[in-house]
Amino acid sequence: MSAVYDHCFKTVFRLTQEVGKLIRTRINSTKTISTKDSEIDFVTETDKEVEETLIHGLSAEFPEHKFVGEESTSDGKSQKVVLTDSPTWVIDPVDGTLNFVHGFPHVCVSIALLVEKVPEIAIIYNPVLDQMFTARRGLGAFLNEQPIKVSKTEELSKALVCFEFGCSRNPEKMAFVKENVQRLVPQVHGLRSLGSAALDMAMVACGGADVYLEAGIHAWDVAAGDLIVREAGGVVMDPSGGQFDVLSRRVLCASTRSLADQMIKTVTQYYPPRDDAE
Ligand code: IPD
Ligand code: CA
Repeated sequence: MSAVYDHCFKTVFRLTQEVGKLIRTRINSTKTISTKDSEIDFVTETDKEVEETLIHGLSAEFPEHKFVGEESTSDGKSQKVVLTDSPTWVIDPVDGTLNFVHGFPHVCVSIALLVEKVPEIAIIYNPVLDQMFTARRGLGAFLNEQPIKVSKTEELSKALVCFEFGCSRNPEKMAFVKENVQRLVPQVHGLRSLGSAALDMAMVACGGADVYLEAGIHAWDVAAGDLIVREAGGVVMDPSGGQFDVLSRRVLCASTRSLADQMIKTVTQYYPPRDDAE
């Protein structure tokens, strides 16, 4: 493990704790809210401030690094993501913004460092519940500095499944959600929707849930969760069974490959426009 990543990890860990305080102190206060892609796709002043603080702090230490941040990528219309081989911090300042708006405590900061498009560092921090999930490539995954592992669940009929409704009212997406809820509910132990893609992945990583599937997420929702789940021993792939692609807006993660395969056979598919589409 190169020393440069040690410095990156310490820096991003410190900054994440700093912005976590902002989220924690503001979650029950009045917010200034605007909408982006749909009437339920929100952004608050805290989302923007957290992202600016992270980018400012990381740029000061690593001036050559690039950023893909939810709020700086989105201009309310297009969200084209440009991901190069340069070291790039992929940032979701507040994942679970709808929860944050309501004061529902499942919110987190999600950050990954990708180098040559390979995730090296990942952090998912829920400052309200003080749960800090971290991973570095090849070094395992941790919750509050204790090692975590995925569950051993092999059968979908015994699985706790995370499946999100999302923040889009696109009819095709809503039909996909409705159909898959109908297919999954009678077949699994339970279906959960935390309202944060990153926290759904963190739950799979620590064994609190067994599977998570979503189509319609963005790179910043899942870049950190990808490394954390894999370092915890789980699998991350495309919901069709192909290789995971951080820009595809589709993700399936599971504690075991067998569980992922059963999920793939059970669900219908939805292919939103990619994050790097014009
Ligand atoms: C959303 C959350 C939600 C998921 C959506 C995301 P945001 O991110 O992760 O759980 O279903 O697809 O867009 O808007 O809270 O940052
Ligand atoms: Ca998000």
